[in-house]
Amino acid sequence: MATVIDLAPSILSANFAQLGADAKAALEGGGTVLHLDVMDGHFVPNLTIGPPVVASLRKTIPDVTFDCHLMIENADEFIPAFAEAGANWISVHQEACVHLDRTLHLIESHGCKPGVVINPATPVHMLDEVLEIVHHVLVMSVNPGFGAQHFIPNSLKKVETLRRIRESRGLAFRIEIDGGVALDTVGDIVRAGAEILVAGNAVFSHGDIRENASKLLQAARSAASAAAKASPRLRRASTVPRNSKSDRHLRQT
Ligand code: DX5
Ligand code: ZN
Repeated sequence: MATVIDLAPSILSANFAQLGADAKAALEGGGTVLHLDVMDGHFVPNLTIGPPVVASLRKTIPDVTFDCHLMIENADEFIPAFAEAGANWISVHQEACVHLDRTLHLIESHGCKPGVVINPATPVHMLDEVLEIVHHVLVMSVNPGFGAQHFIPNSLKKVETLRRIRESRGLAFRIEIDGGVALDTVGDIVRAGAEILVAGNAVFSHGDIRENASKLLQAARSAASAAAKASPRLRRASTVPRNSKSDRHLRQT
């Protein structure tokens, strides 16, 4: 089974005066998941959107997975509101959650898929105890807070490590990457093992949004299929193992 690659346009770089139209254009171009960045001005030095914006987008985009990336300190207080607003996936930062296991279960209890995020300076092994209960792991490939930053190459090693751990432990979480994903980085990113590709600047900041999304997704899928031909191990790594604990999350996706 070949790796399933999802492109998740990040609306952080969209024109907020025409947010619905920009988001739809990115999805028409090939985006399969909409990535929504929530920032609180405390955990990260920027402010963005809250549940009302998610609810408005949900009205105009009823049938696409909404991936809410919470860069906030008090996630537990807001998870119910984001679920109610229409989030499908909710991810929280390992660095921001004192009771991470509880928070991930809280997300699930509200009918959403739980994801965990790590900053560039956080080692993958900080996630050892929660990998069985997450639907996805999001590797930050920039320091969170802003769009259009340079990709941090060390993130590739972290993606590879996650892929190896998933294979050796027979788990099924998906691997997402966020920050600096563009035509010049996407090949290495996909070859390392990332499957959900968040892209803001490369999709929204210049030229035609549909065309940008389409070219990026095509480049990613070509790299994934070339890598799978070259290495059958990559195909195995992306196959969902039967009876794994996280399998139930994937069946609902
Ligand atoms: C940064 C956000 C990202 C951001 C990525 O904190 O989490 O989702 O939009 O931006 P680009 O694709 O512009 O690097
Ligand atoms: Zn993000």
